[in-house]
Amino acid sequence: MNDIIKIFDTTLRDGEQAPGCSMNVQEKIELAKALEKLRVDVIEAGFPASSPGDLESVKTIGGIIKESTVAGLCRALEKDIDAAKEALAHAASPRVHIFLATSPIHMEYKLKMTPDKVLENAVAAVRYAKKFCADVEFSAEDSSRSDLDFVSKVFSEVIKAGATTVNFPDTTGYAMPDEFARMVKYVREHSIGIEKAHFSVHVHNDLGLGVANSLAAIGAGADQVECTVNGIGERAGNASLEEIVMALKVRKDYWKKDTRIDTTQIYPISRLVSKVTGVKVQPNKAIVGENAFAHEAGIHQHGVLANRATYEIMSPESVGITRNEMVLGKHSGRHAFEERLKQLGLPVDPKNLDEIFMQFKILADKKKTVGNRDIESLVLGSSSSSIPVTWKLDRWVTNADASGSSMSAIRLEARDGGLREAVHLGNGCIDAAFSAINNIVGKDVTMEMFELGAISGSSDAQGEAIIKVSYNGKQWNGHGVSTNIVESAIKAYVAAINAMESDQRQGEEKNLG
Ligand code: KIV
Ligand code: ZN
Repeated sequence: MNDIIKIFDTTLRDGEQAPGCSMNVQEKIELAKALEKLRVDVIEAGFPASSPGDLESVKTIGGIIKESTVAGLCRALEKDIDAAKEALAHAASPRVHIFLATSPIHMEYKLKMTPDKVLENAVAAVRYAKKFCADVEFSAEDSSRSDLDFVSKVFSEVIKAGATTVNFPDTTGYAMPDEFARMVKYVREHSIGIEKAHFSVHVHNDLGLGVANSLAAIGAGADQVECTVNGIGERAGNASLEEIVMALKVRKDYWKKDTRIDTTQIYPISRLVSKVTGVKVQPNKAIVGENAFAHEAGIHQHGVLANRATYEIMSPESVGITRNEMVLGKHSGRHAFEERLKQLGLPVDPKNLDEIFMQFKILADKKKTVGNRDIESLVLGSSSSSIPVTWKLDRWVTNADASGSSMSAIRLEARDGGLREAVHLGNGCIDAAFSAINNIVGKDVTMEMFELGAISGSSDAQGEAIIKVSYNGKQWNGHGVSTNIVESAIKAYVAAINAMESDQRQGEEKNLG
């Protein structure tokens, strides 16, 4: 048994399957780089046969990532494995991940296959993948509702065929922790050749037990866990990466296991996932929620002031949250600013540094003090500049009064430098502004989700908008920050339109090529 627990991250695959969490290729690349920096062992980058976009993402990520294994998911079908072969061709450390269900309900109603056929297909698929990839994982989907002797037989045979990892998923989030541990122990004991393979678990959170079940499985001998940042994923999500990792770290005395994760990257990547997916983290979420390290009750505050360990079992710094010792403002220099960026562990592309510092100075002129969340927003906003700018906000004017009807005039600068202007009426100034933008870009873009909030609690706080738009059945996210709340919404809308335009242009270029 291994003392290192492998962290298999599936934010880009299972996480992306969550409603409203779809990401474009650029966003996936940005996240894959952050996952590599977090030092996850495996990045499941997508399901190559599911769409040309997914194949492209896995291919691009495979070509970039060097320190983590890059996995592509496949059904037990030759055409899926061929797609994974193409997608992983340039990966430094590729893994083919094949899944096939083993539970009676899935075999009868979904697959319409007998158990013998499932076994035969599983073995054939692993053999086929082994021809080009040494690292093959086999998942018995819905394992926790399967006959355990059958799963053990399938695992024994796929290991004989060359599988290097076998995965035991609680696909429907149905198992109870002690029950799941017993299942893992049983299957490990009854799978021939298991000592030659890693034993993985993949747990969903339908009953809120994703992390508990993953930890129980580790206690029973699993040495890989599949999880996602912020716990995003199908339905109620997957086991949360940050919770599993910190449970192992904080209670190392109990588990006596390690991971390779750089835990100081946990908070930055949580923010990045939230920004990219447009899905906010609940305030009381363990480890990364806004309140995870907040002490409200007087008695708690008193204790923490005397000794933090009275109510804190881990430090915010250990997960990458920096306490704000030094206030930044308009007199702060570049050195102090860069130092804060380093402390916050934010991913800054050096070519964007001048621009971010300039934005910081502009902001510091408008606000008395610039907090960590302000800086984080500046950086995360600038990372959307990896998305080519088709439209840039040049000017906006709007009016609002109690009648509800508003008029907004918007001027955008196009890629060719030309200025385009439109004026529109609407039900409120934001509705009017978005309609004016639709007029300029000439597309009837629909807004799917719109969240507006303040970055901090003060009255001069910046407004932050997260927007999801759709057009022709596809969705894109945009993020905007400004000291003016209306401007933050307009910026977010323009950012989402830029993501859409860039995606569509790439599609057209591919069709021409
Ligand atoms: O939940 C599940 O069973 C899966 C498999 C593909 C591993 O996502
Ligand atoms: Zn899953």
